Amino acid sequence: MKLYFAPLEGVAGYIFRNAFVHHYCGADRYFTPFLSNPILSHKERNDVLPENNAASPLIPQILANNSEYFLEIAKTLKDLGYSEVNLNLGCPSGTVVSKKRGAGFLSVPDSLDTFLGEIFEKCPLKISLKTRIGMEDISEWSHLLEIFAKYPFSELIIHPRLRRELYGGSVHRDAFKTAFDYLVGKKGLSADKLVYNGDICSAEDFSSLTAEFPELTKVMIGRGALKNPEIFNILHGKGEIKNPKEKLDTFYAYHDELFDSYRNIMYGEKPVLFKMKELWGWFSEYAGLDAKELKSIRKASSFTAYTSTRRQFQTQAISALR
Ligand SMILES: Cc1cc2nc3c(=O)[nH]c(=O)nc-3n(C[C@H](O)[C@H](O)[C@H](O)COP(=O)(O)O)c2cc1C
Repeated sequence: MKLYFAPLEGVAGYIFRNAFVHHYCGADRYFTPFLSNPILSHKERNDVLPENNAASPLIPQILANNSEYFLEIAKTLKDLGYSEVNLNLGCPSGTVVSKKRGAGFLSVPDSLDTFLGEIFEKCPLKISLKTRIGMEDISEWSHLLEIFAKYPFSELIIHPRLRRELYGGSVHRDAFKTAFDYLVGKKGLSADKLVYNGDICSAEDFSSLTAEFPELTKVMIGRGALKNPEIFNILHGKGEIKNPKEKLDTFYAYHDELFDSYRNIMYGEKPVLFKMKELWGWFSEYAGLDAKELKSIRKASSFTAYTSTRRQFQTQAISALR
C-alpha cells in the first residue's frame, strides 16, 4: 500500500514537511498546499523550491479554473524540475468556491470538462486530480466521473464528501465504491489510479477501509498525520515507537524544529506563537496534554513563557514515566 501525505494549506508548508520527514517520515508522497497565482507569490515559490524541500517525492498542487493560469504555473514547476502536478477540485472555502475554483468548479461541469480538455492537451507534466464528490448532492457524482474518465489523469484522489459537508459528518464510502466500480470495473482503468482520502486516523480506520476495498493500493492521509505523526510508519507495518521516553523525545525534537524554523522565517513573536498554538490543537492528544495544559500553552504571550511551558510539559511527561 502506498500512503500519501495530503496537502494542508496553512499547516503543511515546507517548514512543516521538512520537520515531519526529519523526525517521522514514512509517507510515499507529499503534496504541497495549493498554488493559485500564475506568477508564484514569494510564499508559494519558497514552498516549491527544491532546495527548500526535504520531503520527496513532492507533488505541487494547483488551484485554477483558467487553463492559461494552470499552464503558466505548470511551466514554472517544470522549470523547477517537477514532472507531475495535482489539480485541486476539493477546496470548500467560501472565497474559493464563489469563484468556481476548488470544489466550486464541480458545480459547472461543462466548464470543468473544457478546462480539463485544454490542460490535458497542453500541459507537459503528468496531472493528477484531487476531488470531492460534488457540491450539494450525491447525484452530481456520476456525471463528474464520466467527465474524469475522458482524461488520462495519473491518479484520481477522491475525498468522498460534498462541498456542503466541509470536513464533518461521515464520508460517503459508497461514492468511492461507485467510482471504483465505474472506472476500474467498467472503464478498465488500473486500480492503482485511484486514491482514497478521508478520515483515516488509526490502524482500525485503515483496516476497515482495506477490508471494504481489497483492491485499493493508495491512501492519502491529512489530519490523521497531524494528530499522530507516526501514522505512516504504523500503517506500513513498522509499528509505533515502543520506548515511551524515545517517543516523547522524538515528539519534542519535532516540535522544537518547527518552533526554531518558524522563528527563522517569521518576523516577531506573535505570528510564531500563533502558528505554534494552532499546531498544539492537532498535537495535544498525541503529546498527552489535557485541556488545562493546552490552555496554559495557549496563554503564553512571549517566547520565554512559551519555552518554559513546553519544557515543563516534557519534564512532567518524563517524570510520569518513572
Ligand atoms: C487545515 C487544512 C488544510 C487543507 N488544505 C488543502 C489544500 O491546500 N489542498 C487540498 O487539496 N486539500 C486541502 N485540505 C483537505 C485535505 O487535503 C484532505 O482532503 C481532508 O483533510 C480529508 O482528509 P483527512 O480526513 O485525511 O484529513 C485541507 C484540509 C485541512 C484540514
